[in-house]
Amino acid sequence: MSTLVLFGGNGMLGQALQQALSGHTLHVLTHHEVDITDAAAVDRALQTIRPDYLINAAAYTKVDDCETQQELALRSNGLAPGILAVAAKQHGCTLIHFSTDYIFSGTKPEGYQESDSPDQPVNYYGQTKLAGEQAIRAAGLKEYYIIRTAWLYGAHGINFVDTMLTLAKTKSQLQVVNDQHGSPTYTVDLAVATKQFVEQALPYGIYHLTNTGDCTWYEFATEIFRQAKLPVRVEPCTSAAFPRPAKRPTYSILLNTKLAPLRPWQAALADYLSTVSG
Ligand SMILES: NC(=O)c1ccc[n+]([C@@H]2O[C@H](COP(=O)([O-])OP(=O)(O)OC[C@H]3O[C@@H](n4cnc5c(N)ncnc54)[C@H](OP(=O)(O)O)[C@@H]3O)[C@@H](O)[C@H]2O)c1
Repeated sequence: MSTLVLFGGNGMLGQALQQALSGHTLHVLTHHEVDITDAAAVDRALQTIRPDYLINAAAYTKVDDCETQQELALRSNGLAPGILAVAAKQHGCTLIHFSTDYIFSGTKPEGYQESDSPDQPVNYYGQTKLAGEQAIRAAGLKEYYIIRTAWLYGAHGINFVDTMLTLAKTKSQLQVVNDQHGSPTYTVDLAVATKQFVEQALPYGIYHLTNTGDCTWYEFATEIFRQAKLPVRVEPCTSAAFPRPAKRPTYSILLNTKLAPLRPWQAALADYLSTVSG
């Protein structure tokens, strides 16, 4: 049993991590309790808790708002991971940090391996998350895991599955973009897989963890309505038909070459739907 501190404990992934890691001595800190951009507050928390592992599920995740809230995005996603890495080094604990497929430009249809160098993120959120990874490496901490994930959904958060289920209450027909490819990932599966970083002596470094397989948002929506037995007709459209403040990568598939694969995304979706409808 290890002593863990979890930052961003109230977020969508944070809540799933709370469940998955409950067999350990887990100290959950919310944004209200500790702001990860505040080095002194982070230091005080580690001084008090003396954790073996510092888990960072906190981030500024409003991808479109990052384009206008650039200073906040950079502080939260780009600079704070460096603060956490320095603190982890000082207090002798291991850092587990979550990053994203959006650090890649999304131009490789075959997907990205852990060893691929991030190129040019297509939006500011991706740029700040990449800066966060670089800040961790620059801190000189050896004991870190960066877990890149993608297209998260689960309880306690705004996510695509819930949005589709809500739209189905008022619409019988929807257009959904069919030119962005990724791997939908259930927060519960990611949180359970995160346990192995605490419970096994895995080599430090970068990992890719998503549910297995990939699809477009159109294909994801179609599968959601098929499994939920909802009579919504989904039509494919292009991203150009739905312009948003932040551009999205076309292919942001993360290839996991280091760990046991998570189950296929369709099976994970079925589990999630059984929790929301039952
Ligand atoms: N969601 C996705 O599709 C996705 C995809 C790939 C990677 N990720 C990564 O996965 C991780 C978890 O994402 P998520 O979807 O669970 O995000 P989330 O639901 O938005 O949760 C993020 C949490 O971080 C907190 N937070 C924000 N700024 C903070 C700060 N300065 N100090 C302390 N806490 C702060 C938020 O609190 P407030 O709400 O009170 O501000 C919130 O509770 C993030 O690193 C994200 O980049 C997410």
